[in-house]
Amino acid sequence: MTIPCSIAGIGKYLPDDRITNADLEKMVETSDEGIVQRTGISERRRAAPDQASSDLATEASRMALEDAGVGPEEIGLVIVCTATPDQAFPATAVQVVENLGCSNASGWDLSAACSGFVFGVQTGAQFVRTGTMGAVLVIGVECLTRILDYTDRTTCILFGDGAGAVVLTSTERSPGLEYLHGFMGAAPDREAIIRRAGGSRLPTTAETIAAGDDFLRMEGRKTFKFAVRTFANLVEQSVAEYGGLNELGIVVPHQMNQRIIEAACERLDLPIGLFYSNVAKYGNTSAASVPIAMREARDEGRFDAVKGKLACMCAFGSGLGFGHFLLRV
Ligand SMILES: CC(C)(COP(=O)(O)OP(=O)(O)OC[C@H]1O[C@@H](n2cnc3c(N)ncnc32)[C@H](O)[C@@H]1OP(=O)(O)O)[C@@H](O)C(=O)NCCC(=O)NCCS
Repeated sequence: MTIPCSIAGIGKYLPDDRITNADLEKMVETSDEGIVQRTGISERRRAAPDQASSDLATEASRMALEDAGVGPEEIGLVIVCTATPDQAFPATAVQVVENLGCSNASGWDLSAACSGFVFGVQTGAQFVRTGTMGAVLVIGVECLTRILDYTDRTTCILFGDGAGAVVLTSTERSPGLEYLHGFMGAAPDREAIIRRAGGSRLPTTAETIAAGDDFLRMEGRKTFKFAVRTFANLVEQSVAEYGGLNELGIVVPHQMNQRIIEAACERLDLPIGLFYSNVAKYGNTSAASVPIAMREARDEGRFDAVKGKLACMCAFGSGLGFGHFLLRV
């Protein structure tokens, strides 16, 4: 028997420090106009020097637990989706479990970069749907500013820090935002978006640091085209068995670039108002972008306005990985 599963609560946390386009103009050869025109991004956030991913994750999780009315001791599993963990091991989730006092939970990290949160929700939902656990906490968090090269204008303008979290429970306990299904895909391409050093293939040395291999590197044009193509397919595919695009109430995509959102929307021939975007405020926060956007969409009444309709969350990024999950609002 499958137990219907819902998103019972959503939380977010954004560090206070802002990096505006004017700040970036002082670091690399770029301009506010050039950045806005290429990406739609005006500013992004930066974690304080004493904040690690687990700290951001803890704040977002506290908000999600409160929102859900679920106590930390009720959580059976904490999944932290991140490409910027506190350290290679132990998992960042272990620290979050301790910070929150999730006395009955295990915790581990899921590494799938920008697709991480979408994969994490699908993973967590399985434990609720099978009745293995009553409540699962899934977090998307990044401190990407720690691995950005602020001399590379094609990457440093795009990314920022932040965290978002959701609590999954049975639909019986928390009606609304019911999880319907999800999808995870891969189009393997190691080099498109990569941090080459710092792992077993290329441990960090003075040479890797000098070569800039400890920074995030990206083939911008290639990932742009991949994202537009994949995004439109994912939205179409997500709703195919649930009445098609006409049933869609909202799309909350990975917040990568406003031009990518607009291009996908054009391909699908859907109104832009259907696509939630806050990329102007936070840039691309990788695994954190979808849950942050979900919380803000909810706060703005965007879910309430489409009760009974479908909500599609989709993401794509390093790997190249991509996926979606679909909710009934
Ligand atoms: C990176 C990105 C903004 C570059 O914009 P673009 O319009 O595609 O630009 P191109 O890469 O074709 O480069 C065109 C020119 O703009 C320049 N340019 C790129 N970023 C610039 C910036 N911030 N300011 C000024 N000029 C910039 C390039 O250096 C290049 O100059 P050149 O012709 O003198 O060599 C865009 O490709 C992008 O957003 N890609 C998606 C990346 C992404 O989101 N990845 C995350 C995946 S989760």
